[in-house]
Amino acid sequence: MDLGLDGATAVVTGGTKGMGRAVAEALASEGARVAVMARGRAALDETVESLRRSGCREAFGISADFADAASITEAFAEIDRRWNALNVLVHTVGPGAGTFESLDDEGWDDAFNRGTMSAVRAVRAALPLLRRAEWARVCTFGAMSIRRPNARTIAYTAAKAATASVTKNLAKSLAPEGILVNCVCPGTIVTASFTEALRPVMAAEGLDAGDPVSVMTWIGRTFHETSAIGRAGLPEEVASLTAYLVSRRNGYVTGAVVNADGGSDF
Ligand SMILES: NC(=O)c1ccc[n+]([C@@H]2O[C@H](COP(=O)([O-])OP(=O)(O)OC[C@H]3O[C@@H](n4cnc5c(N)ncnc54)[C@H](OP(=O)(O)O)[C@@H]3O)[C@@H](O)[C@H]2O)c1
Repeated sequence: MDLGLDGATAVVTGGTKGMGRAVAEALASEGARVAVMARGRAALDETVESLRRSGCREAFGISADFADAASITEAFAEIDRRWNALNVLVHTVGPGAGTFESLDDEGWDDAFNRGTMSAVRAVRAALPLLRRAEWARVCTFGAMSIRRPNARTIAYTAAKAATASVTKNLAKSLAPEGILVNCVCPGTIVTASFTEALRPVMAAEGLDAGDPVSVMTWIGRTFHETSAIGRAGLPEEVASLTAYLVSRRNGYVTGAVVNADGGSDF
């Protein structure tokens, strides 16, 4: 299936690691020109180098902190200078975990700043560029936990639910302009940062944090949650869904909050 992304311009926030990186790679493999945004310069350079090596027709990285409004504005000003218009915005940056007892007001503010306002600010900054493009798509990242909440991620989940709500609302207001806006909600996905954080904990139980079946076994044992498919997901499985939603091929899906969770919310 030709997604119609050849030559498209695309920004992927959080595009140096995990699902953002996988989305950047998926869009590049479909012929898109890709700008990745994240804080760390070394990871940006390595990602751009890798994208170019794999044949991406244009790739560059912009260092930006999505916890900081001015940094977001400046990052999209750079996109404006380079491309003038933008076809695709995928916003993956999100907040951290925390229980109700562990979070003070500052923790809640931080969750909403990184989990919701970063998406609001990214779309606000990108919108003039999206409007200048011949066609445009936006995808935000929520989380499956907005449908099946988890006590360990209370503010995270609330911020993700707000992002999903903002996404649906924007889909309605931007549809008359032909801009389609969707929200992807991953379940448990085995990203490098996930594996790194859980490797020692899972190793103590004889499980491999890099193995999707072991990860879901551990989630099931520890939190009594599982997925119908019986394993955790892979970044590229979320990326292929995202690539379709932001493609020109997608002409009718908008305002959707779509799980990529192996059947985890029921
Ligand atoms: N992994 C899961 O199981 C899972 C499940 C449900 C939802 N999600 C959501 O899916 C999204 C992607 O998750 P992931 O696990 O793939 O992430 P990840 O592997 O941890 O990668 C995070 C990316 O975002 C960048 N980033 C983090 N904070 C940033 C900031 N303040 N400003 C700019 N860039 C920032 C990181 O680079 P720098 O650190 O260099 O900035 C990196 O490129 C997140 O919104 C997450 O909440 C993940």
